[in-house]
Amino acid sequence: MKALQWQGDHLLILDQTKLPFVEQYREIHSYKEMAEAIKNMEVRGAPAIGAAAAYGFALGAAEYRGSGEDFKDYMDEVRAVLEGTRPTAVNLFWALRKMEDKFREFLNMNDIGNIRAALINEANEIAEDDRRMNKRIGEYGNTLIPEKANILTHCNTGSLATVEFGTALGIIRTAHESGKKIHVFAGETRPLLQGARLTAWELLQDQIPLTLITDNMAGYLMQQGKVDMVIVGADRIAANGDTANKIGTYSLAVLAAAHQIPFYVAAPTTTIDLKISGGDEIPVEERDDQEVRKIMDVRIVPDEVSVYNPAFDITLAKYITGIITEKGIISPPYSVNMVKMLVR
Ligand code: MRU
Repeated sequence: MKALQWQGDHLLILDQTKLPFVEQYREIHSYKEMAEAIKNMEVRGAPAIGAAAAYGFALGAAEYRGSGEDFKDYMDEVRAVLEGTRPTAVNLFWALRKMEDKFREFLNMNDIGNIRAALINEANEIAEDDRRMNKRIGEYGNTLIPEKANILTHCNTGSLATVEFGTALGIIRTAHESGKKIHVFAGETRPLLQGARLTAWELLQDQIPLTLITDNMAGYLMQQGKVDMVIVGADRIAANGDTANKIGTYSLAVLAAAHQIPFYVAAPTTTIDLKISGGDEIPVEERDDQEVRKIMDVRIVPDEVSVYNPAFDITLAKYITGIITEKGIISPPYSVNMVKMLVR
């Protein structure tokens, strides 16, 4: 199963809003379609958003029909539209910056004829790197997992959220493949149910034992000693280790600390944003009220009920036992050790 696949002149995406009961693929031919698909969460998960935006940028260049003089202004607009889709996952901005650098390199060389091919190559490389990084995260993460473990995870961090394999779910996959007896508690992840709809679907396909729980059951499970460790993904990690991830992650971290359960964040280093010193500077996306008023398109409260719908929360670094990246496992103090790891 692949969230996105480049098809030579367009991107094929698996529409994640319809899973698990409908497996529908959609062809993306323009940067505006790409921006819509990211905004609507047909493609989602920080690394997948980054790669999708990179392909969107390449599609934007391929759509350009001008004579060349306004190519740069036009591509500034393409980038702005793609950047305006989702504010929290830094992978989006990282990937677009890489694409922009490649674009300028060719523009400065006056090599406009080859810009489009160079941008597609760059997007393919971003996607390929993500695949490789996830495998490494899986290997490093597996060193932390005992022979037998009950692992709680949140949201979806698997093949669907990345280019392939996954981050937190990639670690779970690696541990399972290496013969360890892994059982996963997947939190359903309201409001959009990425845990129930996507993580459960991925684990079922890989035949990894799982139990689905509603988000409010985690504390009770921990109190009963049923959870050995928590592993989640990330959308943006600040220089001090504070981590933005799907709403509900912070509650799990506090609960894990109260029960002395290790709490790990798994993410590629492309999710680390050293320009941001602490979690309070991370922009947290607020999404449409209707996502809370409905469950899978079924209304559960009238429109008069006011709701609040932040898509992410910030887990303070003090609750995080370790950050698992493709370069290794970072331990506290993160403000020192993260920089050390990144310059390696
Ligand atoms: O709103 P989503 O579904 O894009 O949020 C996804 C998450 O919060 C993931 O945990 C995170 O992006 C890491 S995915 C490897």
